[in-house]
Amino acid sequence: MRLWARAVYLSAVQLGLLSASLQAAPLNGEQLYDVACNACHSLGTAPDRRVGPALSGLLNRQAGTIDGYQFSEALSASGWIWRLPTLLAWLTDPDAAIPNNAMNYVNPLTAEETQRLSEWLLRQP
Ligand code: HEC
Repeated sequence: MRLWARAVYLSAVQLGLLSASLQAAPLNGEQLYDVACNACHSLGTAPDRRVGPALSGLLNRQAGTIDGYQFSEALSASGWIWRLPTLLAWLTDPDAAIPNNAMNYVNPLTAEETQRLSEWLLRQP
């Protein structure tokens, strides 16, 4: 094969692989978090200026109790504890879960993605 022909052939194969992997690989929990939550929530411990509260150490935390964040009355009075079932209910439909909360958010993820993201998030220290 001539050199130029080989180059064309190779890049066609590479493009094929690339598009196949883009279509096939589902986003993992961290990637879903980056897409859907990171703009409003940090995973750090230092207070920052995002719209939402930090979500680090979420597992077994009572809703609306982080120091230094002004939660809605509805969320802090909810008595919810963050575990998989509560987090799934919250992310599936925040307004149905805890009416009058301040998370202005329509979840763009599928049920399966929401589950994958939630399991990942609850493992973050
Ligand atoms: C547009 C901004 C925005 C986006 C995007 C967003 N949130 Fe929120 N989130 C908020 C706000 C604001 C609150 C505080 C709600 C309140 O006080 O009622 C909140 C509260 C929460 C809480 C309660 C935390 C606590 O300490 O009780 C959880 C859990 C949560 N969000 C998870 C998520 C996850 C997971 C995603 C991504 C799938 C997400 N949020 C996307 C703004 C956002």
